[in-house]
Amino acid sequence: MKKALFLPAFASAALLALAAAAPAQDLSLNWNQYRGFDVPFVPTPPEVVDEMLRLAGLKPGDVLYDLGCGDGRIVIAAAKRYGVKALGIDIDPVRIQESEENAVQAGLEGKVKFIQQDLFEADFHDATVVTMYLLTSVNLRLRPKLLSELRPGTRLVSHSFDMGEWRPDKTSLVETSYGDRRDVHFWVVPANVSGRWEWDLPDGAGKRHFTVQAVQEFQSVSASGTEGTWLAAVKDVVLAGDRISFKLDTEADGKMASFLYEGTVRGDAIEGTVRPADRPKAAPVKWKAVRDPKTAVPIAK
Ligand SMILES: C[S@@+](CC[C@H](N)C(=O)[O-])C[C@H]1O[C@@H](n2cnc3c(N)ncnc32)[C@H](O)[C@@H]1O
Repeated sequence: MKKALFLPAFASAALLALAAAAPAQDLSLNWNQYRGFDVPFVPTPPEVVDEMLRLAGLKPGDVLYDLGCGDGRIVIAAAKRYGVKALGIDIDPVRIQESEENAVQAGLEGKVKFIQQDLFEADFHDATVVTMYLLTSVNLRLRPKLLSELRPGTRLVSHSFDMGEWRPDKTSLVETSYGDRRDVHFWVVPANVSGRWEWDLPDGAGKRHFTVQAVQEFQSVSASGTEGTWLAAVKDVVLAGDRISFKLDTEADGKMASFLYEGTVRGDAIEGTVRPADRPKAAPVKWKAVRDPKTAVPIAK
């Protein structure tokens, strides 16, 4: 991977943003020492670490990776406070050594892992949570890897920097002890539901055939459908990781009615239930939709 040279980009708005987000004492660092890295070492203030871990919603069984882990503070806080498996990746051997020393001091020797590697070459597909304090330009280069290698439902948290057109699912604003405010952005990696889906539902002695064509931009999905030869409006599509819900309007007992579909996406299948949207207590009917794999489009842009 060709590296973005750090120093020539010094005047870029993104880099100035990182510098502005750094506490005053860090700006006296010798920036030259970070030549060849994608981002210099600027630590996340403790109150921002707290908010990043809160937004991540850490729970037992989670596996957290901090990409560009610096002195290991996010990894150490996650392991110590939430008891989750936590790993850090940093390109700079000085940072890895510092992280390891800090882990020993925190009583976490052997309980956290630090890997010296370029994050663009690292394998972190088993993550359930990924934290970052990089730059928007770096996040954008990383975005296709995040979207194609991480499982749907993986949570991403970024200090200060966003992901361009992939809008965050949540953003918090944190006041720091340096007297400034930092954004903390949160995303859930969406399943890829683009393409043409088909299913049947029982109808008396027969069945009804449905087709839905879905267009997806990150977590945002729009769709249109047919039931047999009739158009069927698809509304209120919500995609959160591998969970999807939508309403589909169709004829029932001679009237138009809206049906609520809810399911879990597993590759080219969605399995779940369907029931009348206005009757939440109605017994749900099992539903399974299947996609023609040739119609799916990568969402990793
Ligand atoms: C802004 S610091 C963030 C440190 C830590 N995550 C935190 O929030 O306190 C960015 C870190 O990314 C590391 N880094 C820069 N380019 C990298 C790359 N290509 N692969 C892995 N780490 C990288 C730097 O060495 C630095 O420690």
